[in-house]
Amino acid sequence: MCGIVGYVGKGNAAPFLVEGLKKLEYRGYDSAGIALINDGKFVCKKRKGTVAEISDAADLCSGIGIGHTRWATHGAPSERNAHPHIYGRFAIVHNGILENYALLKEQLESDGETFISETDSEVVAHLLEKFYCGNLLSALREVTEKLVGSYALAVLCLDQPDIIVCARKASPLLVGVKEGACLIASDIPAIAGEGVTAYLLGDGEFALLNAAEAKFYSPQLQPIRKNQLEYDPLISSSDKGGYVHFMKKEMSEIPCSVRNSICDFATKLKFSDFYQVLCQTKYIHIVACGTAYHSGLAVKYAIERLARVPVEVTIASEFRYSNPVICSGTLAIAISQSGETADTLAAAKLFRAKSVPLVAVTNVSYSSLTRIADFVLPTRAGSEIGVAATKSYNAQLTVLYSLAIALENAKGKSGKSLERLKRLPRLATATLEAAETVRSWTSHFVGARCVLFIGRGADYCAAVEGSLKLKEITYLPSEGYPAGELKHGTLALVDERTPVVVLLTNKRLAAKTMNAVHEAAARGAKVFLITSIAEYLENEEVFASVLIPQCSEAFTPLLSVIPLQALAYYTAIACGNDPDKPRNLAKSVTVE
Ligand code: F6R
Repeated sequence: MCGIVGYVGKGNAAPFLVEGLKKLEYRGYDSAGIALINDGKFVCKKRKGTVAEISDAADLCSGIGIGHTRWATHGAPSERNAHPHIYGRFAIVHNGILENYALLKEQLESDGETFISETDSEVVAHLLEKFYCGNLLSALREVTEKLVGSYALAVLCLDQPDIIVCARKASPLLVGVKEGACLIASDIPAIAGEGVTAYLLGDGEFALLNAAEAKFYSPQLQPIRKNQLEYDPLISSSDKGGYVHFMKKEMSEIPCSVRNSICDFATKLKFSDFYQVLCQTKYIHIVACGTAYHSGLAVKYAIERLARVPVEVTIASEFRYSNPVICSGTLAIAISQSGETADTLAAAKLFRAKSVPLVAVTNVSYSSLTRIADFVLPTRAGSEIGVAATKSYNAQLTVLYSLAIALENAKGKSGKSLERLKRLPRLATATLEAAETVRSWTSHFVGARCVLFIGRGADYCAAVEGSLKLKEITYLPSEGYPAGELKHGTLALVDERTPVVVLLTNKRLAAKTMNAVHEAAARGAKVFLITSIAEYLENEEVFASVLIPQCSEAFTPLLSVIPLQALAYYTAIACGNDPDKPRNLAKSVTVE
């Protein structure tokens, strides 16, 4: 969702900017650019496409610069719309959305100003030029007062060629300080390194950076002191570790993410405030988007089965405008890998406004979601760079299953669930090995008219995630559907060009799910089976199959999703796509 970087120091800015942008590319890769100040002039290089397009800019010389990698919101991906935007004495980079930019632009145009790009961001450079009277911070404050929406901004000014000023509201921005330089970035991986102390700029705050120090200011421009940000070195690492793609590397880290995310809340937190809240919880309401929403669906199944507490799961962007009925005794859970998804944050704030206790399940300890939640349950997946979420889904399930077990315990229903949960890392390793079989399936999926993923109960929860994974990186139309519902309309899609992926892990429901297999096979569809029940492997209507390990019924999506992630990955490669950078998408969707 756009990444920004900045450098001011005794060294050379350009290599840091280019390398930093590469580490933020998961946030968008529609265009990239950097601007430096050299001999009293701006030197700017920007291109449509990925940061690789501006790699040669790393040779430019200057001790100060800012950079941007874009996920297009206003205006097509093009060089013209690429940041930095330069106007008069100012160069700016922006991450966020300015909701009132059209009005501001109209006013500026009526004053005779002309705009180069179609972006919302360019108004900031024009407004700075209008308000600047020698004090850069005051001008930036005056400009931000005019803005409605979200922003992380970094500004260069030719009149003050040794400083960068920044502002932030509802889009993340971090400041790094090291010997002889100050840095800024939208996320830790771009600034993390030996000797770097990191600080998180708060909502409405400003920062002024020079080669020697970073100064922080309140929304009223009063100097403030900031605490150093503790960050997990795991989160900050972002290399491919010998793999061709981040997605494959991140899938290989699933067992470790699951192992690290298991939490014995019931014992650890007994008598704590959180445990008391669990004891009093009568309903759970989960809000999330995309893959995180699918984690919510899967955990609903587990919580209701283990703790018999009713759970509602709502897509965050729908929840916000649904005028929801919230019963007393509700515990709210917001799930978000990044902790920055705008819709999830807004839904979480709605719960806060109604004094509902809020639990955040997130992979980023310093995220906005973390800061508004009453209780934070961290997923320990480490840095996830591939745009398609993989290991973070498995880690979310692990943390949420741990919560389900704590609830089970708080409701006096203790069983063997924790022991069963602790077996999952080992079973995930075995599933990863088994999942390699799907590599040979891809030729049946490339060019398919539509792909259906079906299952019942927990298998249905994994099916919807498998479908999302496939469509986002292969661009093949696909649907995740309850197996029993197929015959009520969707069966009309099925013919010999519609591969049907069937999830079958529940013996109790297996015969019923097999009805859907008969219905699909009878219409010429090839059936691909992912099952933990060996007796179905040889079924004559099954075209190909993978046997995955058995686990507790409540936890099956954590394993059954793995062959689906692998299927999406290998099919994307067979389609000639880069699985790490699907078109039109970015990780961390900080716009509503
Ligand atoms: C899909 C994917 C997205 C995210 C969604 C929410 O692979 O990654 O659907 O799950 O954008 O993101 P977070 O979890 O950061 O709130």
